[in-house]
Amino acid sequence: MFLESACAKIILFGEHAVVYGRPAIAVPLTQLRARARIAARADTGIVVHVRDQARTFRLEEAADDDPLAVITRLTIESLKVGGDFELWIESDIPLASGLGSGAAVSAAIVRAIAAFGGRVLAAEQVSKLVYETERLYHGSPSGIDNTVIAYEKPMRFTRALGPKLIQISRPFTLVIANTGKSSPTKVSVGDVRRGRELDPARYETIFDEIEMIVDDALKALASGENDSLGGLMTRNQEKLRELDVSSNEIEHLLNAGMHAGAAGGKLSGGGRGGNVIFYVNEDQADNLKERLLGAGATDVIVTQVGGSSNS
Ligand code: PMV
Repeated sequence: MFLESACAKIILFGEHAVVYGRPAIAVPLTQLRARARIAARADTGIVVHVRDQARTFRLEEAADDDPLAVITRLTIESLKVGGDFELWIESDIPLASGLGSGAAVSAAIVRAIAAFGGRVLAAEQVSKLVYETERLYHGSPSGIDNTVIAYEKPMRFTRALGPKLIQISRPFTLVIANTGKSSPTKVSVGDVRRGRELDPARYETIFDEIEMIVDDALKALASGENDSLGGLMTRNQEKLRELDVSSNEIEHLLNAGMHAGAAGGKLSGGGRGGNVIFYVNEDQADNLKERLLGAGATDVIVTQVGGSSNS
C-alpha cells in the first residue's frame, strides 16, 4: 500500500498574462491536499475509487475523456508500470475555484502509480505528466499549475523558462475566500483569447502592465518590503477587471474585504468565480475571515506564505 499526495496552489500575481509569455508568481498551499492511495489487486484489472464523486470505475471501461482515467493511463504507459491495482482518490481542494484541484489530483495519482512501480519521480517528471492532462482540458495552459504543484515551492514562472524558485524573505498572511461560484478556467482563458484576437494591442498592453506589477512584487518579496504587496494585488485586480475575468461575486468579496481592513486583494486563477485573496496584517486576519464569511464567502482560509509550511 502506498499513499501519496499533492498540494493546492495560489497564483499571487500574473494569471492570464502568463498564458501570453509574461511571468507570474505562484505559491503552494501545503495544508490543502489531494491524496491517492494505491494497493495491488488479487483480481485482474485496475479499479479507481473517487471519494468526492462517490464513484468507482474500471480503467478499461472509462471514457477516453475522463480526466482521472487519462492521467492514470498516461502514467502507466509512460512509466511502464505493470500489474493490477486499486486506486483510491480524495481531495480537500475545492473544485474549479483557482486552487489547482485538477492538477493536484493528477499529481497525487502520478506519484502513487510511480511508487507502486518502485519509482521515485523528480518534480519535473511529475509536472510534465500532469501538464499532458491539463492540456486536454484547458486548451493551452501556461503550465504554472502543474509546475507549482509538482515542485511545491514558491516560484516565478514563465512559459519560456519554466520555474525559477524564489525566496520569500519575510513570511506574510494571506486570507483566501471562496466566492462559492465554481468557474472552469478554460472558459475565462477562452474569452481572453477571443478578446485578444479582436484587439491585440489593447490586450498586449494590459499583459505588459501586469508584467510590471509582477516584477514589483518579486522585488518586494525578495527584499521583505511586504507592505507594498496589498497595493500591488489591488493594481493586478484592476488589470484583471480590464481583461473581463472578474465577476460580481468576486467584486462583492473584494469590497467586503477592503472595508474589513485588508491592505489589498485580487481574484486568483482563472477568475469569474473561485477564490479571492487578500493581503492582511496577521493581527487582522481573524476579523477579516469573520467579515468575509458574513459577506457570503463559502469558505475562508487564513495561511502564512513563506513560513515553514509554505516555503
Ligand atoms: O487553474 P486556475 O484557475 O488557477 O488558472 C490558471 C491560471 C491561468 O493563467 C488563468 C491559466 C494558465 O494556464 O496559466
